[in-house]
Amino acid sequence: MLTDQQVRQFDQAGAVTVDSPLTSQQMSAAANAYDRLLPFQEPDPGEQARYRLGNACQFFDQELLNLIQHPFFEDVAKQVLNTQSAYLYLAAMAHTHPQPDAEWTFDQHTDIQYCLSDLNATPKRMVCSFFLWISDVNEKRAPLVLRPGSHRLIADWRESNPDLRGVTPQVVGTKLADLPNLPFEEPMPVCAKSGQVSVLTTSTVHGASINVDTVPRKSLHISFTPEDVQVLLPPHQVDLKKSYDAFLRKHLRKDRQHIIPNS
Ligand SMILES: [Fe+2]
Repeated sequence: MLTDQQVRQFDQAGAVTVDSPLTSQQMSAAANAYDRLLPFQEPDPGEQARYRLGNACQFFDQELLNLIQHPFFEDVAKQVLNTQSAYLYLAAMAHTHPQPDAEWTFDQHTDIQYCLSDLNATPKRMVCSFFLWISDVNEKRAPLVLRPGSHRLIADWRESNPDLRGVTPQVVGTKLADLPNLPFEEPMPVCAKSGQVSVLTTSTVHGASINVDTVPRKSLHISFTPEDVQVLLPPHQVDLKKSYDAFLRKHLRKDRQHIIPNS
């Protein structure tokens, strides 16, 4: 569970990095799964190499399911979302391979946006995302980059816009250039140790960066929503989530299956 100060940081900054009860054995088992499932592949002639590899809701390995179903994530989600009951929303792997000779750059976008009334509701009408750092992340090793507090500036702006106020939150990527011109703070890299977790909202302006270190960066993204709170997914993710939920409902431990919503 988080301290009151950490919950405040999640609310105000949109992200807080904390220790978790996950063990180094669990991290190294997960790291092996990343090497097996998302290895770097030399590109075919004329093709560009792909350094940032991902897998959303299509991994079924026990060492990764053990992380998703760990009670820590459900408990912290309930705490920060102010809810008695929370469901797993999505899960995704990200494996960023090194490009030590590349220039360090980063992307900036939001994946979802809320109104202030969503953030202030009980339970909060929002997704809580966990970025579990399987490997250490330093400033060179593809840190997540994030503008603290930007989610609240956007939420305030949306609340004051009658066309946006009260609209059901929807997952849709929006680039920084397409966001309103608000006094955002400067982007900051999020560094962490293996086994730590960044608890965050992807409604902050954030983005992935290039890995200019010499070893890969591995992270597992797990998100939860409060029961009875609707957050819309893009059409292609709806079916993906449905079939992943069906798989997880059968393959999580009996005492953990309640984190999967009923179909
Ligand atoms: Fe994102």
